[in-house]
Amino acid sequence: MSTIETPVRDASCAQAPLLAVLGGDLHVPLLDGRRVRYANLDYAATAPALASVAERVNHVLPLAGSVHRGAGVPSQVASALYEAARASVARAVGARADDLVVFTRNTTDATNLLASAVPAGAGDVVTLDVEHHANLLPWQRTAGGHRCVAHAATIEETFSRLEDALAARPTALLALTGTSNVTGETLPLQRAADLAHRHGARLFVDAAQLAPHRAIALSALGVDYVALSGHKLYAPYGSGVLVGRRDWLDAAPPYLAGGGAVREVTTDSVDWATGPARHEAGTPNLAGAVAIAAAFEALAALADEDGSDLRHAHERALRQRVLDGIADLPGVHPLSIWDDADDAIGVVAFAVDGYAPGHVGAYLSAEHGIGVRDGRFCAHPLLAAFGRPEGALRASFGVGSRLEDADRLVAALRQLVERGPDHAYCASQSGWVPEHDTRDLAAWAGLDLGGAAKPTPCGAG
Ligand code: ALA
Repeated sequence: MSTIETPVRDASCAQAPLLAVLGGDLHVPLLDGRRVRYANLDYAATAPALASVAERVNHVLPLAGSVHRGAGVPSQVASALYEAARASVARAVGARADDLVVFTRNTTDATNLLASAVPAGAGDVVTLDVEHHANLLPWQRTAGGHRCVAHAATIEETFSRLEDALAARPTALLALTGTSNVTGETLPLQRAADLAHRHGARLFVDAAQLAPHRAIALSALGVDYVALSGHKLYAPYGSGVLVGRRDWLDAAPPYLAGGGAVREVTTDSVDWATGPARHEAGTPNLAGAVAIAAAFEALAALADEDGSDLRHAHERALRQRVLDGIADLPGVHPLSIWDDADDAIGVVAFAVDGYAPGHVGAYLSAEHGIGVRDGRFCAHPLLAAFGRPEGALRASFGVGSRLEDADRLVAALRQLVERGPDHAYCASQSGWVPEHDTRDLAAWAGLDLGGAAKPTPCGAG
């Protein structure tokens, strides 16, 4: 079995990565022909696999057959590994003894599953307008409907608005993000759980962004359901999870109709299983489940028994370095939702006067080897509330990040605002691209990428 890496204990100033990740020393081509170490500032979109996670998956796959579907030894091993991963995830998120852990494709999938399980007649679902689309759109399909509460300038006032909303109408579920995927600001979850329960509602937490950065304890916090994605948790093998209270899930229509979700089938009837199997029809993704469990195990090694966690100081240092650096740059504006947010993960969203977000993103990549995300981050209502319908930029960090990455971002932005890019860019059909780009990404990757690696040229279409 793979070993869990011993984390770097003296990393409070973020000089070095906390854990090894795949691609941590990737060198990418620039427009001027140089290659530089890739500064991955896009952990919030998809985090790289932890080296220990990849090692665990590689160890397991040659030994494993079909989960729950074979008499051979590899199938028995696969079934045991899959159920062990489920138990491991339950422990990692502090689930209650009778909670279900359902493996899904990702957070969006998990949220859609829960939306299909909210009982008719139990009330509606309340969210905030800061949510990722994954925590907005599924609720619009629930039997009881959906209300979206506009956030206020402070968390205090935002909670007061939520209290009013829950008092006004029967609410089945309060569905909140644990931390904004745009700004990284976190919400007080115990307080949210208390609020929901006071009004007879349950609390669902979209932990896609929170889980990779903070320990979660469903039982201790009173959170009823949580959803998360492996690909943001350093386990990009195609799985996510929904964890939470059994009753709604056991009574819900099976999420997918098919093999594995049943007790008995005739040509015109079916007796559906209960428990996680009810919602996991089809052959399960063993690699995805094993990877998530391995990632939680590796991240747990960053926490001390006194509650401190190396991730907090690491990300605080990186975030603050960017915020301090851009504070001096004219026309660069950090974005924040709440004036009184006292905790944030390693994310900084910002806008640059005079430049489309895609232009800045293309410049950072092509001239500096820095990867950020630009656009509206699947959070259109929040970007509209920021008065930035054109979008913004987002730099995000994780356990593989180092201070040098933050410094490179600030230096590149300084160059941008002081003298502009060295190259010309245009908005093509596939987004902002350099006007003259001779880099061959397929040759760089050593892969046949078809035509997909070639950006639409300027002026095309
Ligand atoms: N949901 C991911 C993000 O915020 C993709 O970037």
